[in-house]
Amino acid sequence: MAKKTIAVVGATGAQGGGLVRAILADPGGEFAARALTRDVNSEKAKALAKLGAEVVAVNIDDAASVRRAFEGAYGAFCVTAFWEHFSPEKEQAQARAMAQAAEDAGVKHVVWSTLEDTRKWVPLSDTRMPTLQGRYKVPHFDAKGEANAFFSDAGVPTTWLNTSFYWDNLIHFGMGPKKGPDGKLAFVLPMADKKLPGIAAEDIGRCAYGVFKRPDLIGKTVGIAGEHLTGAQMAAALGEALGQDVAYNAVTPEAYRGFGFPGADDLGNMFQFKADFEKDFCGARDLGFSRSLNPRLQTFAQWLGANKERIPLG
Ligand SMILES: NC(=O)c1ccc[n+]([C@@H]2O[C@H](COP(=O)([O-])OP(=O)(O)OC[C@H]3O[C@@H](n4cnc5c(N)ncnc54)[C@H](OP(=O)(O)O)[C@@H]3O)[C@@H](O)[C@H]2O)c1
Repeated sequence: MAKKTIAVVGATGAQGGGLVRAILADPGGEFAARALTRDVNSEKAKALAKLGAEVVAVNIDDAASVRRAFEGAYGAFCVTAFWEHFSPEKEQAQARAMAQAAEDAGVKHVVWSTLEDTRKWVPLSDTRMPTLQGRYKVPHFDAKGEANAFFSDAGVPTTWLNTSFYWDNLIHFGMGPKKGPDGKLAFVLPMADKKLPGIAAEDIGRCAYGVFKRPDLIGKTVGIAGEHLTGAQMAAALGEALGQDVAYNAVTPEAYRGFGFPGADDLGNMFQFKADFEKDFCGARDLGFSRSLNPRLQTFAQWLGANKERIPLG
């Protein structure tokens, strides 16, 4: 029987890459992978082609190119790259183009990689955290949550996939433990004693693969995480893996917003939201359900075991 093609946006990135590799690692499975990228000649694109993916050019800023890239596909994995531009409006235009293209191409199952619109919990009038860019509390969350409606409005068969904090941020996003003036390592997280749902980025794609295998999840919002851990638990696991003490430095969200790197205010608000609404946020990311989608789901300790050498210790 002919395989059903899944068109994967962000195929050269963390989430989409995990999905393409999950599809290709299951040669007896029902799906084929169409890896979408702006540059079909990049090393990452060539590596996906070598693994067996069909590599196709797309620019999600160009609606017509998304329409062409989704043509003939059974499924589409849709993700945006907020941190390339920091623009909620751009992110929403990209989501709108993907939803429209999925409708026009008659895609049967879309997985939209999204996050909560935090303004449902923290309205703009709530002064516990600053309003950012005029109309957001957590821009990279709120823009995605607001874009959820583009998929339902377009009448596209969609699963809304609420993702979690990547542990890979410790490698790529400067969030690993840092040496203090005393030479000791400390892990900074502005969440006091509250739990942060985290996941290995590669497992997001594997979970998305599990969602595509479950058409009964069309029309549903699902959430995934590998573990829910406090900052103290993460610091202890880091210490165990690295073989040296790692303290937990629970700065306040206000202090975190003031760190001054691009996006520090957005992330400070994000961690505050996750801490203040721990029950709802963790509750929306059931670990057993995540494992049912992806039996290889890693714990933080397992992820550390495989990745500890890659964490820069500043
Ligand atoms: N870091 C976290 O903890 C975390 C947690 C949850 C959600 N998120 C969200 O994850 C998203 C990023 O996903 P990711 O980490 O998988 O991405 P990533 O690893 O940063 O890679 C970005 C991907 O997006 C593609 N891309 C960017 N602009 C494009 C365009 N105009 N047209 C076509 N493709 C484009 C890139 O493809 P080419 O360069 O090959 O074209 C690349 O594959 C962000 O929106 C972020 O908010 C992050």
